[in-house]
Amino acid sequence: RKKIGVMTSGGDAPGMNPAVRAVVRAAIYHDCDVFAVYEGYEGLVKGGDLLRQMDWNDVRSYLSLGGTAIGTARCAEFREREGRLSAAANMIRNGIDALIVCGGDGSLTGADLFRSDWPSLVQELVDNKTFSPQEVAPYKHLTIVGLVGSIDNDMACTDSTIGAYSSLERITEMVDYIDATATSHSRAFVVEVMGRHCGWLGLMSGLSTGADYIFIPERPPKAGEWHQELKNICSRHKAKGKRRTIVIVAEGAIDDQLNAISADQVKDVLVELGLDTRITTLGHVQRGGTAVASDRLLATLQGVDAVKAVLENTPDTPLPMIGVLENKIVRQPLMEAVRLTKSVATAIESKDFDKAMQLRDSTFAE
Ligand code: F6P
Repeated sequence: RKKIGVMTSGGDAPGMNPAVRAVVRAAIYHDCDVFAVYEGYEGLVKGGDLLRQMDWNDVRSYLSLGGTAIGTARCAEFREREGRLSAAANMIRNGIDALIVCGGDGSLTGADLFRSDWPSLVQELVDNKTFSPQEVAPYKHLTIVGLVGSIDNDMACTDSTIGAYSSLERITEMVDYIDATATSHSRAFVVEVMGRHCGWLGLMSGLSTGADYIFIPERPPKAGEWHQELKNICSRHKAKGKRRTIVIVAEGAIDDQLNAISADQVKDVLVELGLDTRITTLGHVQRGGTAVASDRLLATLQGVDAVKAVLENTPDTPLPMIGVLENKIVRQPLMEAVRLTKSVATAIESKDFDKAMQLRDSTFAE
């Protein structure tokens, strides 16, 4: 019987529980044993109680559960070879030779490293007499499949990551609340949203709430000019009778000379304009709560396909990442997607913002 491990890693995202549920149930449906790896890679490194076989009923009610019930961590030990060696030993001890990892690009890059290290890790476990050559014989190849779970929607080659639309919904709801008090007092609010280096949450929440101005890293305003531009736009809106002013600042916001733009700086400009201004940093509220229906669906369809991808995997298949393009679940070569994602950051660093936007949009056929 095939034994598959499933884990969530990196920052939690709404929809991770539905993804774990789908993997557990699809694996059981396909006659596999399935293990939850608790606390992300830490569970693999430490083993023992952190690796638990899952039953059909263990994931009951996971669809509407926020966060990740099997825990997550950013694990420093797994970045070291020693940690990966211990992870490999724990997998072999439990008979697991396939992993489905739900996380962001960092977690999935770690998975790729683990896979490429695998043969030498197994050899080392024989050399140091942890296992005999016979014991490791069935573990020549490690299968890994990636599911992208992140509120940031920052991965290339997929239209949406698990959790992004839930987070967008939460931000939109919060800005609507702010809108009510801002309108009552004729105030301005600077709302800082998450997204790390990606402006998707900032852009989409700005559009969803009719914000007056949006700061995102991929379309930075001109240094030395944005103060005046912001003032002009907000005054124009005021002159049209708008009582409230809402400015969304993505946490990675910069100007076109790559200087960081903070919520405080934006507030100062609005105050200069004479607006009574407050800052709201939404913070981790954006990652909390239950997943919206579209994330539950995405996680379920992708979780089922991840199990199929494990069963269809061959040693030559490049590590697959389960994505979604134009509403179809697709398998993409993970490291290509990671490479393209990183190239957005490189384009921004070299001030080629058009290219950054183009790359953000880029996808490629299955
Ligand atoms: O990647 C998800 C994310 O929420 C980012 O938007 C944010 O920059 C980061 O994680 C915050 O990380 P932490 O929860 O470790 O503070």
